[in-house]
Amino acid sequence: MSSTIYQATCSAPVNIAVIKYWGKRDTSLILPTNDSLSVTLDQDHLRSVTTARADASFDGQDRLWLNGEEEVIKPDGRLRRCIDEMKKLRQAKEAKDASLPKLSEWAVRVCSENNFPTAAGLASSASGFAALIASLAALYELQPEVSTSELSRIARQGSGSACRSLFGGYVAWQGGEQASGQDSLAVEVAPQSHWPDLQALICVVSDAKKGTPSTAGMQRTVQTSPLLQHRIKDVVPQRMKDISAAIQNKDFDTFANITMADSNNFHACCLDTAPPIFYMNDVSRAIVQLTEELNRASEAEGKGKLAAYTYDAGPNAVLYAPKANMPTILQTIRHYFPNADFDDTFDLLGKGANASHRGAQDAVALPQSLPAAFNSNVIPVHEAGAVRRLIHTQVGDGPRVLERGLGAESLLTEQGEP
Ligand code: DP6
Repeated sequence: MSSTIYQATCSAPVNIAVIKYWGKRDTSLILPTNDSLSVTLDQDHLRSVTTARADASFDGQDRLWLNGEEEVIKPDGRLRRCIDEMKKLRQAKEAKDASLPKLSEWAVRVCSENNFPTAAGLASSASGFAALIASLAALYELQPEVSTSELSRIARQGSGSACRSLFGGYVAWQGGEQASGQDSLAVEVAPQSHWPDLQALICVVSDAKKGTPSTAGMQRTVQTSPLLQHRIKDVVPQRMKDISAAIQNKDFDTFANITMADSNNFHACCLDTAPPIFYMNDVSRAIVQLTEELNRASEAEGKGKLAAYTYDAGPNAVLYAPKANMPTILQTIRHYFPNADFDDTFDLLGKGANASHRGAQDAVALPQSLPAAFNSNVIPVHEAGAVRRLIHTQVGDGPRVLERGLGAESLLTEQGEP
């Protein structure tokens, strides 16, 4: 071992798109068929943490562990490409400054963990690849010379949606036009501090069957769906402009309208795929109906929308809402979907912040704060556990460097083992 330990540990957030990425024009470089836009969620609640170390004694072989299991780094795979691109950036830095240690020539060891179980049904590839890129960037001391957007271009080659997790707040992935992918990267639309009031309630829906993975599903849509062509040409470009303006203006009603319309358009494209792909199930659709009724009743009183739903490649709902609406939304969801586990991050139930409510048996009454015109028969009260878990979080910041060198945050031992 060399005497100095060259290592960095970073955390990176999850992001949930409001304009969905669905389709690639280049499957190898991961270049999308349309722009997309997402909200970065708070990594105090959901995150991936990664330690990356370079050492001359690592005998030329890069190794990576994910949640305790070693992953094979395939020669033409996504991990290989990300690590190689990061090494190239380090090499360029070393070429300019001969006094730097030649970390680019040494093998790396990477150890990564998510603080949320994959069983929660949440995709971890975005936060995982973002944490990988952030930790290698910190290890190689690439910033500020290399911009965050340039790093996002590399994260994109790990998983498309990962490029958006390199920024906090409100983030656009500009799909770009070049065949090289040089102009396909993430940019900040607005930082978290611009509109910190936006919160999210993730409703983890029970689902036994394993759905079509997004990588395969989106290519089938590209190959077979005429509706996707309409989405790419006529739908997304205007929505990108309109939702960016809504974010600038902190206009929740417009934000909500576009978010829900885009989720529905994306799932319509899935249905338009041959053979069709179904990600939403009956419980997902009941949450759509409930949210639409909440919004209708609120608007009947001359007020704004209460919440916006969006669904990725699975049955889970993510409800976005201004902070002030969350107590009403949470209690309404808990009424219709009893017994969901709930980690009360913001102490809405008054039992202390982070108190865990493990599927309490008591029926939850509808909240007093509901709009008067709300039709309580809009959906039935569902069977216990139809929504398994509720995660309350908010818009958050971008990747954080937790530690440089070997310390308390390290996921690798002094010997470089997981
Ligand atoms: C529905 O980023 O997981 O969540 O690029 O093939 O790794 P790959 O796909 P991935 O797809 C995410 C699709 C989505 C929409 C979105 O996040 O924009």
